[in-house]
Formats: sequence, C-alpha cells, structure tokens
Amino acid sequence: MHKKAFITGVTGQDGSYLSEFLLDKGYEVHGLIRRSSSFNISRIAHLHQDRHVRENKFHIHYGDLSDGSSLTNLILRIQPDELYNLAAQSHVMSSFTMPVFTGAIDGLAPLSILEVIRTSGLPIKYYQASTSELFGAMPPPQNEETRFYPRSPYAAAKLYAYWTTVNYREAYGIHASNGILFNHESPRRGETFVTRKISQGVAQIKMGLLKKLYLGNLDAIRDWGYAKEYVESMWLMLQQPQPSDYVVATGIGASVRDFCERAFNRVELNWEDHVVFDESYIRPTEVNALIGDPTKAKTHLGWAAKTHWDELADLMVDSDLRNLQR
Ligand code: NAP
Ligand code: GDD
Repeated sequence: MHKKAFITGVTGQDGSYLSEFLLDKGYEVHGLIRRSSSFNISRIAHLHQDRHVRENKFHIHYGDLSDGSSLTNLILRIQPDELYNLAAQSHVMSSFTMPVFTGAIDGLAPLSILEVIRTSGLPIKYYQASTSELFGAMPPPQNEETRFYPRSPYAAAKLYAYWTTVNYREAYGIHASNGILFNHESPRRGETFVTRKISQGVAQIKMGLLKKLYLGNLDAIRDWGYAKEYVESMWLMLQQPQPSDYVVATGIGASVRDFCERAFNRVELNWEDHVVFDESYIRPTEVNALIGDPTKAKTHLGWAAKTHWDELADLMVDSDLRNLQR
C-alpha cells in the first residue's frame, strides 16, 4: 500500500520540491491550494499536467488556512498518513504590515489542523514548518537548546505554532515534529526574498534590462542552504519512531553583501557598481545573524546539507540567466 501525504503550501517553494520528492518515493500526494483570480500553480504545473503519467497520484484541493472547515473536510476525506504544514505568510518584512493576518495563518491555523488530527483520532504524523527566525536576537550558532527571541510578528506567530506542536505531542501523543529550518533557497524562491531578488537582478543587469539593484541591510548574516535538499529532512522527521524537533542548516554563515559579491562575480560584474542602498527595506527590528548547528539532524536523521551558499548563488544566477535567455 502506498502512503498518502497532505501538503499545505504546495504551491510554494518547499511544497513543490516536497511533492516531487514524495511522488518519487511512491506516495499519493494531496496539496492544498487557495483560490485566487489567476491559477497560481506555476511551481507545480508540471506535476499537475503529468498526474496521469504519475498514475493519478497528485491531487490538488481548494481550501485556505483561514477556513477551518475546509481543512477539517479535507483531512477527514483524504485521511493522510503524513501531513506537512508548509503554508504560511512567509515574508518577514510583510508580517510587520500584516501582523494580524500573519498571526492567524502562521500561528493559529496550525492549531486548527492539530485539533482535527486530535479529534479525528486518525494516526496522522504532523510536520510543522518552524523557522530559525524563532532564535531572532540570540547570537549564533543556534541549536535546539538555544533560547527563542522572536523579532517580528512572523517569528512570534511561528513561536506559537512551535509550542502548540510540542504541546499536542506531549498532551495527546500525536507524532508531531518541528523542523526548525534555516533559510533555504533555490531557483523557485519567491522573487522578493533577498537571494532571489539578487540572482534575478544580476541576470537582468547582465542582459541590459536593469541598471541598479536596490537593497536594504547588507550586513545581515544568514545560513543559506538549498531547498531541494531540505525537504528530505522534513520527510526523515516523520519516519522516526519518536517525534522531535530538529535544526536543519548548513552550519555556514554569509552576509547579504557576500551573497551579492558572489552573484555578480558569476557574470563578471562588480556588485558595487550596481547595488544601491534603499532604506525602505530596513525592518523595524532586524535579525542580525542566523547560523545553525545541525548536529542533531546529522546524528539522528543522517541528514546533512550538500550545497553551500556560494554554489547556491551560482546556480540561482545561472537559472535566472537561462530564464531570461529563453
Ligand atoms: P512560500 O514559497 O512563501 O510558500 C508559502 C505557501 O503557503 C504558498 O503555497 C502559499 O500559497 C501558501 N499560503 C499562504 N497563505 C495561505 C493560506 N491562507 N491558505 C493556504 N495556503 C496559504 O514559502 P516556502 O519558502 O516554501 O516556505 C514553506 C514554509 O516553511 C513556510 O511556512 C515558511 O514560513 C517556512 N520556512 C521557510 C524557510 C525558507 O527559508 N524558505 C525557512 C524556515 C521556515 P500561494 O502560492 O497561493 O501564495
Ligand atoms: N527581502 C529582502 N529584500 N531582504 C533584504 C533586502 C531586500 O531588498 N535587503 C537586505 N535584506 C536582508 C533582510 O533585512 C534580512 O536580514 C536578509 O536580507 C534576509 O531577508 P529575506 O530573504 O527576506 O529572508 P528572511 O531571513 O527575513 O526570512 C526567510 O528565512 C526565514 C528563516 O530564517 C523567510 O523564508 C522566512 O519565511 C524564514 O522563516
């Protein structure tokens, strides 16, 4: 019997890679998509089109994390073995302008999902997309024992979901795990996150379509890994006999400036000739440095990152150049 997975946030960067990963493992994959005026499935269109080739194992369902009834109906109907809750308002800066919405989707909605799992009595294993943003102001390196100090409405909402996940595990014996993932990027990364903004900007400047790239804080340090590799860690967490919480990271930090320099060098340009500071990208409170210590993931899950930030910058620039050349 093949396993069934239900993925919220299936149209996002991670949802698309996780769908491919699980389909390759023989899973039947069900994804939640929200209604919008355009059919917003570009990252999973290939899976949707190929679903017959893939023996009808990929299904999408309309619903919304703000609508508990749609979640209840779908979970009871699909009865998945594993539920990956990846949906979120995932942009930190946007959470300062939409704090209440972010709180509802990133904080409260995971509780609704866990309540469906609890009341249904179904043996559904649950993955919560937690984040290194939880560590916020705490200095690196950060691991599972590091204190949380959220610095945005996004991080505060994710903190609520983190503890809800732990509580449902301890109170009700649900197989519920938090993946505390550090930043992970790819050619499918949303265009307003800094790495993709840089890789797209570099490609456009190289092709003569753009002159300047406007950025905010270049001093921020992040531990950037490759999203395609990180989705395996999510799956591994749900294959463990006991649920737990894991930091997933490369263990290597680089600044936004470093990433810029590398990306521009890829096309033989000097970043300082093109990058302009724009204070509108400065956040009310910033997270200065996130560098993870992934020892637990390596020891318990056998997972380790292969691609580091510099290779990631190269592959993202190459991909955006190819997109434009096409
Ligand atoms: P993403 O590309 O922004 O995808 C977010 C997904 O959530 C999209 O599919 C989006 O749908 C969906 N969504 C948003 N609001 C929704 C709602 N109200 N109802 C249903 N679906 C909704 O994010 P990602 O980079 O793949 O990240 C996946 C998860 O991991 C997120 O929870 C994020 O906070 C967390 N995380 C990400 C990172 C990272 O570095 N990428 C690190 C740590 C944690 P639309 O396509 O319709 O917008
Ligand atoms: N987005 C953006 N745009 N960020 C900029 C810019 C800019 O023009 N200029 C500088 N930055 C800086 C931000 O201030 C931040 O310090 C850093 O670049 C990274 O910003 P983002 O790429 O927006 O990512 P993030 O670290 O805030 O959040 C991402 O990673 C989290 C995990 O640590 C998101 O994917 C979150 O959903 C995720 O939880």
